[in-house]
Amino acid sequence: MALDVFVATGAALADWRKVHNAIIPTDPLSEAEVLERSGRHRLTLGYDDGVLVGNATVRPPDGHGTATVIVRILAGHRRHGLGSTYLASELAVARAIGARRIETVVLASNHDGLAFALARGFVEHDRYLLEGDTVPYVDLHLPGEPPE
Ligand SMILES: CC(C)(COP(=O)(O)OP(=O)(O)OC[C@H]1O[C@@H](n2cnc3c(N)ncnc32)[C@H](O)[C@@H]1OP(=O)(O)O)[C@@H](O)C(=O)NCCC(=O)NCCS
Repeated sequence: MALDVFVATGAALADWRKVHNAIIPTDPLSEAEVLERSGRHRLTLGYDDGVLVGNATVRPPDGHGTATVIVRILAGHRRHGLGSTYLASELAVARAIGARRIETVVLASNHDGLAFALARGFVEHDRYLLEGDTVPYVDLHLPGEPPE
């Protein structure tokens, strides 16, 4: 296992979108939405020995120093440590660009994702339904960092 992380730009944004929409079918993003996000967020692709295995989003620190890090690994590549490696790498990037608090967000129905975040030290602080949705999102943060 050797995870290589690349920033998705240009044509690679289609791959980023494909991975996002495969893992989060409840909130599919259009091409235009992904392009718009790529201007605000760090969108990356993760490869294991040249095979696309996942993607990630880092929302850079806001005015309070809070960054959001979300990693996604395709179902067929889970439980090999790729998610943990990808998370560690994106946490390091978030801190390097000034994050003092790290948050993540997981769909409540995504039991693997919630268990993964909790096992990695994240603590839930909010749970909410977006308009038209039936499954709540769960916001979590890494404690021990300055409050928002
Ligand atoms: C959450 C997610 C990224 C985890 O990806 P992953 O590649 O399976 O993550 P890892 O393999 O690093 O860890 C998953 C579990 O497998 C275990 N594991 C890792 N390598 C293993 C191996 N070789 N054999 C057996 N188990 C293993 C880990 O210990 C971990 O268990 P734990 O959480 O109880 O400690 C993936 O399930 C996913 O994309 N979910 C949907 C998106 C999401 O919810 N993202 C939010 C998280 S920030």
